[in-house]
Amino acid sequence: MPIRVLPDALVDQIAAGEVIERPASVVKELVENSLDAGASRIEVDVERGGVGLIRVSDDGRGIAAAELPLALARHATSKITSLDDLEAVTTLGFRGEALPSIGSVAKLRIATRAAGEPQGAEIIIEGGAATAVRPAAQPAGTTIEVRDLFFNVPARRKFVRSDTTELTHIARLIERLALSRFDVAFRLRHGSRTLLDAPVVSAGEAERARLDEILGGDFTAAAVRQPHNNCWNRWWST
Ligand SMILES: Nc1ncnc2c1ncn2[C@@H]1O[C@H](COP(=O)(O)OP(=O)(O)OP(=O)(O)O)[C@@H](O)[C@H]1O
Ligand SMILES: [Mg+2]
Repeated sequence: MPIRVLPDALVDQIAAGEVIERPASVVKELVENSLDAGASRIEVDVERGGVGLIRVSDDGRGIAAAELPLALARHATSKITSLDDLEAVTTLGFRGEALPSIGSVAKLRIATRAAGEPQGAEIIIEGGAATAVRPAAQPAGTTIEVRDLFFNVPARRKFVRSDTTELTHIARLIERLALSRFDVAFRLRHGSRTLLDAPVVSAGEAERARLDEILGGDFTAAAVRQPHNNCWNRWWST
């Protein structure tokens, strides 16, 4: 076979193979983007364990309509511009790879409205082919919907487990994120069932409500707070 340059869509699918292992990997990439966008509320809706639908809505800074096609381009990022930035990176993402990867193995819709934009805008990409940017009804922030994950990659779909198993992976991920960011409200729903609803909590005792919700009251009852590093431990581990 002669040496040849691979088509862009295939390059994205190969990249997706590295990053998108299962529905929870998509949720991780989308929620990390919401956190990087300064969101204070992140809502995650999933259907069929995330294979049918993953929708992440945030109230972050949004994407300018003119930049929407770039958000889907490989190696396009707003988070770094130089090697120096990379060495001091404080965002969760910086490769500019997640959205094009997801868009190459699923049906992806981004609806967004950046502060100061008179109206929202949307773009849709299915298996690597993107539409033009169109106006869309969207409050300030971003909503990303991912449908039919791995619809065009049967080999990957075979490794997806039951809805319950995939949902468990997603729930554990959101719980971990919710434990790391008390300043952000998280809600996770599977169909009409709410699995986690964690409002923003202020510092101090109010944190305990979130810990109770995620770790259970037994944990917090048996835990002591370390005032110097602001973290909670089970008393027997201190
Ligand atoms: N929820 C969001 N709110 C605002 N901007 C977003 C959001 N999601 C994505 N973007 C924009 O789209 C760009 C591309 O996102 P993508 O996740 O593909 O790359 P990244 O986050 O820069 O890097 P990585 O591939 O490491 O995640 C981001 O750099 C950001 O500017
Ligand atoms: Mg990202």
